[in-house]
Amino acid sequence: MAGSYFLTTAIDYVNSAPHLGHAYEKVLADFFARHEKSLEKEVLFLTGVDEHGQKVQQSAQREGVDPQAFSDRMSRQFSALHESLGVASSRFVRTTDPLHKQVVRDWLQKLKDRGEILFQEHEGYYSVRQEQFVTEKDKVNGEWPEIFGEVVHTKEPNYYFRLEPYRQRLRDHLEAHPDFIVPAFRRKEVLAALEQPLADLCISRPKARLAWGIPLPFDEAYVTYVWFDALVNYYSFAAPDGVQWWPPDLQIIGKDILIPAHGIYWTIMLLALGLELPRHLLVHGFWTNSGAKISKSDAKSLVDPVPYIEKYGPDALRYFVLREMVLGQDADFSDERFEIRYTADLAKGLGNLTNRTLSMISRYREGRVPVYDGFHLTEAENDLRSDAVVEEYLQAVSEFAPHLALQAIWKFAQRADKYVEETAPFRLAKDPAQAKRLDVVLAHLAESVRRLSVLVQAALPFTAIKMRAQLDLPVTPARLAEARFGNSLRNHAIGPVVPLFPPLEEKPGHKPKA
Ligand code: MSP
Repeated sequence: MAGSYFLTTAIDYVNSAPHLGHAYEKVLADFFARHEKSLEKEVLFLTGVDEHGQKVQQSAQREGVDPQAFSDRMSRQFSALHESLGVASSRFVRTTDPLHKQVVRDWLQKLKDRGEILFQEHEGYYSVRQEQFVTEKDKVNGEWPEIFGEVVHTKEPNYYFRLEPYRQRLRDHLEAHPDFIVPAFRRKEVLAALEQPLADLCISRPKARLAWGIPLPFDEAYVTYVWFDALVNYYSFAAPDGVQWWPPDLQIIGKDILIPAHGIYWTIMLLALGLELPRHLLVHGFWTNSGAKISKSDAKSLVDPVPYIEKYGPDALRYFVLREMVLGQDADFSDERFEIRYTADLAKGLGNLTNRTLSMISRYREGRVPVYDGFHLTEAENDLRSDAVVEEYLQAVSEFAPHLALQAIWKFAQRADKYVEETAPFRLAKDPAQAKRLDVVLAHLAESVRRLSVLVQAALPFTAIKMRAQLDLPVTPARLAEARFGNSLRNHAIGPVVPLFPPLEEKPGHKPKA
């Protein structure tokens, strides 16, 4: 084994159904998980759902069901989505898991024992929707902004976690580890947020107000604040079978939960407990729909990933989100963009190249990849034998730029496509004097398709399997090293040829645009 890799995603609130933003983040993490596996690393990949808190309690109440039953049903919807997208986590995290609840209580007790948690009276405004205290400073034009929902005035004693004692240490950590928060502009935002003293964080909610939570170990009249519960998941599930994986190599989150949740609360919790910080906190942007953030609170903007998976297949959705979003920035979703990508890159691109290569081998060489020897190789063949694509791919992934990794692969596929145009094997096939030349061409195409089947597997796992089945190669995930040129298919018999991405007109339910 070439070492290990531990990565996590945010865990999604179960108060409403998953949307494209949730699907994206999980696919992104799955891409990195599969990539690391292809480097022969042992991978722990955690993702799942955040089940406690006021929002879930309220949603369950609205339906007149018990929050656990509500959460069970919603959690299944999230895990079913992961399954249909091929998101193969090591473990589907649920915060109602008794093991997790115990770890949360242990952490709270430890922090209390170390004097990091104080009990104090607080009078002020509380946002019911955001489950947090707010101050006059949060008002916009004298009004509470919409995101806070109902804001009430309360006076109650609560437990507070002290953040300020760790502010300087966190700043030092950020200074010493410039690649801790990616992209760099997000790191700057966290540093800016750390310029002012940090207020104590209220980490308790009276049970009378919120019953759906984990009781504090030192005061059963309170449950813990949902973030204090949710963040701990990264640790509670990090020791499956007792093997300790700490710290995470990569934690993927959206930009809305960097400040303060992950950039400040989470990092300071770890510092206070003497635990190592994650190596990278990777912050992605938002999917928008015609410019509006896709969010469960805005029904018009919502994009449900399921119909896209059903209509175009899971890999089409995976490809679209990974290729279209420049990691860190926002990206806009539209049916038009989706169909353009599907048709140009998948059906006419990778799909067509694979199909025509294998069909020609079937037709002209009875399904066997030809053997060739002693030929002068053209520039095109040298391009197709080059491992530059693998290097470019690796470079892009190491820079957390899946869109560039995919660009590199598609550049290679386009080179192979152009090679078909340049060499016109269908014409060569008509001239017996060109038989040896045709062998060279078909063998290079077959090898290119084989290499592509390895290169695409982190992004398009279902397609990789289909490609390898058609090549009659093992469909189990390959090592990335196998994407290097190897001319390994000499005299290899291929399997039955099936189109990878059917044209849209032939897809059931597809209405061509007027
Ligand atoms: N439960 C908390 C996270 C706890 S992590 C210890 C939460 N849940 S969420 O369901 O609201 O969001 C889950 C993830 O989905 C977050 O990383 C969030 O940024 C991401 N997305 C939600 N909407 C999104 C888009 N429109 N686009 C991309 N991702 C977005 O926050």
